[in-house]
Amino acid sequence: MAAKVKAKGSNGRSKRRRVRPADDWLDAVDLLEAQHRYVDRLFSEIERARGARKTQSFDELAQVLALHTTIEARIFYPGVKTPATEELLRESAQEHLAMERVLADLRDVAIEIDSHEFDAKLGLFKQEVHHHAVDEEERTLFPIVRAALDGDYLAGLAGEMVALMVSIGRRRSEPSALARQ
Ligand SMILES: [Fe+2]
Ligand SMILES: [Fe+2]
Repeated sequence: MAAKVKAKGSNGRSKRRRVRPADDWLDAVDLLEAQHRYVDRLFSEIERARGARKTQSFDELAQVLALHTTIEARIFYPGVKTPATEELLRESAQEHLAMERVLADLRDVAIEIDSHEFDAKLGLFKQEVHHHAVDEEERTLFPIVRAALDGDYLAGLAGEMVALMVSIGRRRSEPSALARQ
């Protein structure tokens, strides 16, 4: 169950502050939406590129999606779980698994990156990611989260997600991690 930041009203009873953080604060929803836009850009780059450039952009997409779904699954989803979001979150977790399977299929070395087969699979994957990120999260889940949880709490979740991304990034750059790749 998500913790909610509460403030004392003048009558002494707790009340929820539905305030957005100051403009220069990034909250959890802002952070996830910014990553969604970055994923859109990467899909466009892959569609325009060929050869090594296409492989590089596709590898970047795979890494960004893995990081994004990890911070959602480990911090955001548990942090915003309420009776109103529980079913949506269950569905979203299933969609993450489905996306992972398609991504693994796309990474299959047997598929030539400059082939119609790859482009067709990529097109379907893009639609799947768009449905999850835009229809399920941005248009359905995020408005419920914004209405139910206050800005300070969502800014705190953003901080936790950034910390997790930094620690995953550090682990990836450790020599032992590189040796395992
Ligand atoms: Fe997601
Ligand atoms: Fe997302």
